[in-house]
Amino acid sequence: MSQKYTVPRGTKDILPSEIPFWHYIESSSRSLFGLYNYQEIRTPIFEHTELFERGIGDATDIVEKEMYTFTDKGNRRLTLRPEGTAPLVRAYVQNSIYAKSKVAKLYYCGPMFRYERPQSGRYRQFHQIGVECLGNALPIADAEVIAMGVHLFDELGLSGLSVTINSVGCAVCRPVIEERLKQFIGMNLENLCEDCNRRFDSRPLRILDCKNVTCKTYMTGLPDIRNSLCHECTDHFNYVVGYIDNLGIRFQINPQLVRGLDYYTRTTFEIVSDQLGAQNALCGGGRYDGLVSQLGGPATPAVGFAFGIERAVMILQELSDYHQKVNPLIYMAPVGFDQVAKCFLLVDRIRRAGYRVELEAGKTDLKSHLKQADKLDARLVLIYGETEAEQGNILVRRMTDRTQESVDFDAVLEFLLAEFGPGHG
Ligand code: HAM
Repeated sequence: MSQKYTVPRGTKDILPSEIPFWHYIESSSRSLFGLYNYQEIRTPIFEHTELFERGIGDATDIVEKEMYTFTDKGNRRLTLRPEGTAPLVRAYVQNSIYAKSKVAKLYYCGPMFRYERPQSGRYRQFHQIGVECLGNALPIADAEVIAMGVHLFDELGLSGLSVTINSVGCAVCRPVIEERLKQFIGMNLENLCEDCNRRFDSRPLRILDCKNVTCKTYMTGLPDIRNSLCHECTDHFNYVVGYIDNLGIRFQINPQLVRGLDYYTRTTFEIVSDQLGAQNALCGGGRYDGLVSQLGGPATPAVGFAFGIERAVMILQELSDYHQKVNPLIYMAPVGFDQVAKCFLLVDRIRRAGYRVELEAGKTDLKSHLKQADKLDARLVLIYGETEAEQGNILVRRMTDRTQESVDFDAVLEFLLAEFGPGHG
């Protein structure tokens, strides 16, 4: 036998059985972002390496250890994008999107690449859906972005989520925050890992994000960053939490939430799930007021978030009512060859109304139809045999509880509407 090949470590095939969840998440996101007046943008999968070194920060784990970087045949240093914010900002600047309107609200969806240690919910190729609001410095913009994330996850039916929020200050108060942190961390520096020691002088905030278990133990009793914020940052933070509180969004303040990318200023937040295990962050984001100018554009405040589709799929699959979340399958069972043409007509009407239907014309006896419907995980079976043809009816069987009822042949669409709501198509 010839050699069998497998996917590279940290990547996976997304098989047809999982695809309905992906479609469901992607299409719900697109419709919901539309309600907030966001537009899609698509950027290349690879970019010049310097974009990420400058944008994400050269002292971050992503840039130091996790990038897929290569030299192409023209001797250019290129990197498979590890995240979507820096590329989007690059596109915003390159295409002068800032000149078209004061505020740009953009979203993206696609694969990202990080050379991380693979485990459940952590891959080397994963997919993000992200939103970025550029040009609005007001705290309401942060609140709207957080509210949009919560709204989306509510809409998707993802339960067990909570919002964690913090402020990491701005150019004015960051040096004060860093000095206080250094005073505290300095007492135990010799016990911290190599990365923390290296980052102590230039990026002490990064130490709060260190994943090393020993380092984490030395962070208890750390001074609360928020006590060192300047007035403007304190006001900004209070407004953001006030706005989201007003909407009834439940949140916790975590003074150690700095996140793994260097571009954040002021607000940082995560939406975590109690159903994801160790990799519990479903969504992460925050404000990044310095990034656009750092990447060569005009000074432009910005805020956004991204979430991992794989992690959203994992939560959906855990939910017992996940069947409700994807367009349910209806199985059309003609009993007897003579009924096939009429069934073909009916499934055409049902599909045009947006429901998912399988017509099995190769089988003509009820028993094998029901076996097949079970195998396909159908929710409803529409049975049409000689008796039904004579009476102008269709027999509807619910596969969940095996109940059956007779429905007028011309009233099947009304029945489906009552059973499932409007078709998704
Ligand atoms: P991030 O926290 O690095 O933020 O990633 C956001 C989300 O992507 C995570 O919460 C997680 O769901 C998913 N994710 C990250 N790494 C992996 C992985 N190795 N495997 C599976 N899923 C993963 C950012 O990327 C920022 N660009 C977010 C942002 C947008 N901030 C402002 N705007």
